[in-house]
This record gives sequence, C-alpha cells and structure tokens, in this order.
Amino acid sequence: MNGLEAVIPHLKSLHIGMLVIWCAGLFALPLMLARHDPAIGQADYARIRRATHYAYAFVITPAAVIAIASGTGLIFLRGVFFTWLFAKLVFVAAMVGFHVWIGYVLVEVAERKGVHRVPRATMPLLVLMVPITCVLVLVLAKPDLDQIPLPDWLYEPLGNQLPFEVPRR
Ligand code: HEM
Repeated sequence: MNGLEAVIPHLKSLHIGMLVIWCAGLFALPLMLARHDPAIGQADYARIRRATHYAYAFVITPAAVIAIASGTGLIFLRGVFFTWLFAKLVFVAAMVGFHVWIGYVLVEVAERKGVHRVPRATMPLLVLMVPITCVLVLVLAKPDLDQIPLPDWLYEPLGNQLPFEVPRR
C-alpha cells in the first residue's frame, strides 16, 4: 500500500461523516425555518432565528464544502471515472441547489424587514428525499450505466490550460 492509498479510508470516513452532517442539516433547516413564526413569541423567535443562522453558516455549509472537497479527492485517489459517478454528481448538484435555496429563504424570512410567509416544511423535505436517495443508491449499488452513451470528452483529460496565469515559485 503506497502513502496515498493509505489516505483513502481516512478521506472516505471524513467524506461520510461530513455528508451525514450535511444531509441531516438539509432535513433540519426547513423544519427550523417553519418555526420562524412571530406567533411563537419574541424570545423564542430570536432563539430559533439565531440557531438557524449559526447552524447554516458555521456547521452545515462547512460540512457541505468538506464533503464535496473530500469526495473530489476520492475521485482521483480511487480512480472512479464511471457513469454512475457522473450521475451521482448530477444529484449532488440538486442537493447544492437545495442548500442555496434554503440560504435564500433564510435571508428573506429572518433577515429582511417586512412580513414574510414562512414556507411549510413538508414539500421541501419530500423534494429533498429524491436527490439524497438517488445519490445513495448510485454510490452504494454502483450500477453499470455504461450503455448510456456519453461524449468521449467526459472520459479523458483535455489538456486545456487554466484561463489565468498560475504564479510559479
Ligand atoms: C461533489 C460531491 C461528491 C463527490 C465528488 C463524491 C465522490 C465520491 C467518491 C469518489 C467516492 C468513493 C467511491 C469508491 O470508493 O468506490 C465516494 C464515496 C461515497 N459517497 Fe460521495 N461524493 C460526493 C457527495 C456525496 C453525497 C452528497 C453523498 C450522500 C448523500 C455521498 C455518499 C457517499 C457514500 C455513502 C460513499 C461510500 C461508498 C462506498 O465506499 O462504497 N457522496 N464519494
């Protein structure tokens, strides 16, 4: 086992740990947002508003970034350039979209002045189940999707240069 291969179990543990926090957070946030109702009283409203803000900014978003970064590292360390991985990334993109939408609603409901309608949690949670289930099925079953035709450029490095100068030491 060379040095880089020894990193794989640790990176995968980090990946799974972070995505558990990310997924749990994506389920918790719509429920917390639904509690942003002035009828619960000023003290409770301030507490749930602060808890949602801190959870989003300091726990769930960093966990998402680390999950994606460690997953990206695993692609190269494990050399998994397969169709199921590309399909998985499409659904991960949907999870990122959901994450961004929650951030937008959070700012609208909790930070902007005026009266805002609090979104109900049921529909967002049902929608969220779709990409998370698809990601888990794809990565755990690793189905052979090679009969789906994909363009050749997805399978090989194109040798393109970055559009900016990289400083050399
Ligand atoms: C950009 C985001 C992501 C990338 C690039 C990525 C990439 C990867 C890679 C390359 C592996 C190793 C596969 C192998 O060893 O065969 C892996 C493992 C895994 N990923 Fe991700 N992943 C991402 C996000 C996610 C998300 C959001 C979830 C769950 C909702 C997830 C669930 C898992 C699981 C459960 C494993 C372990 C599978 C196994 O060892 O058989 N990943 N990921």
